[in-house]
Amino acid sequence: MCEKIAAGILGTGSYLPEKILTNFDLEKMVDTSDEWITTRTGIKERRIVDPSQATSDLATEASKRALEDANLKPEDLDMIIVATVTPDMNFPSTACIVQANLGALNAAAFDISVGCSGFIYGLAIAQQFVETGMYRNVLVIGAETLSKIINWKDRNTCVLFGDGAGAAVVGRVESGYGILGSYLGADGTGGKYLYMPAGGSRMPASHETVEKNLHTIFMEGQEVFKFAVKVMDSATIEVLERCGLTPEDIDMLIPHQANTRIIEAARKRLKLTNDKVYINLDKYGNTSAASVAIALDEAYRKGLIKKGDIILTVAFGAGLTWASSVIKWSK
Ligand SMILES: CC(C)(COP(=O)(O)OP(=O)(O)OC[C@H]1O[C@@H](n2cnc3c(N)ncnc32)[C@H](O)[C@@H]1OP(=O)(O)O)[C@@H](O)C(=O)NCCC(=O)NCCS
Repeated sequence: MCEKIAAGILGTGSYLPEKILTNFDLEKMVDTSDEWITTRTGIKERRIVDPSQATSDLATEASKRALEDANLKPEDLDMIIVATVTPDMNFPSTACIVQANLGALNAAAFDISVGCSGFIYGLAIAQQFVETGMYRNVLVIGAETLSKIINWKDRNTCVLFGDGAGAAVVGRVESGYGILGSYLGADGTGGKYLYMPAGGSRMPASHETVEKNLHTIFMEGQEVFKFAVKVMDSATIEVLERCGLTPEDIDMLIPHQANTRIIEAARKRLKLTNDKVYINLDKYGNTSAASVAIALDEAYRKGLIKKGDIILTVAFGAGLTWASSVIKWSK
């Protein structure tokens, strides 16, 4: 009998734009303060792309780093998945643009729109293709240029988000290692709490939509907060159970980087010490689909993750959606 193929992460990479926008800079733009932003969210600064840069540019840089780390060439890729809510354009997909940029012409390519849960959804999709033997190497990217869809006059949202990209190559790993399980979910009835009203078929772009700022993020912060605390709890417990593990087995929690209060609630619920939770939202803010990917890459490159470690990832986002996965690190 053939042994089951194990799918895991062969390499990671990330890319952050150089320009830093601090809370003090925001104080000059809207009625806010460093003190408010820091105590309510944990964010101190975020990265903002150059106007000439699009999401695919960030995604391509992160992908090159992930390919290098995985010791693979672009032509070794069988599939590219880009998770984003800020694609370069409605079509073609940002994944096709990245495919062309990399010269990964053997790869199928498509985008997924899952809000901040997108990277973990992407990992789970990649896992299926690798485990069935259909594909060998799948590039999963979370990339966003949220600064382009922010209403810079709305203090409720403009302080929260940042730009960036993270990537991982999913492929065959040693048996017993890799992605042990995932839990994906959605509740479309909550879609109204976090969305961009215009620019799609419901409300195509017009002078009026532009005048009313409808091509920007609308959010009911408190509703999203309540949802986030609830699903960070249920999604972590559920995926651990699916893998036959308990919170004590976790070596590193890589949570979606939206708000330290949300992460802190999850940390306490799982009874994890601070050193077992990776946080970088003070530097980057909420980078949506890129957030878990960037955090994973940073934690790994800092040497905080070693072979055999149990990594728990968890995220929530627009949709509303949630996702979690357990990875036994194989590198
Ligand atoms: C947005 C968020 C930080 C707001 O924190 P909060 O404690 O819920 O704050 P509230 O919404 O109750 O607002 C409290 C007050 O601060 C004000 N406020 C909002 N943004 C502010 C800002 N940037 N600076 C100063 N004051 C601000 C509000 O207007 C409100 O004032 P009021 O009491 O006079 O009406 C929090 O709800 C949150 O993080 N939600 C989740 C958002 C998220 O993660 N979104 C992405 C999902 S992927």
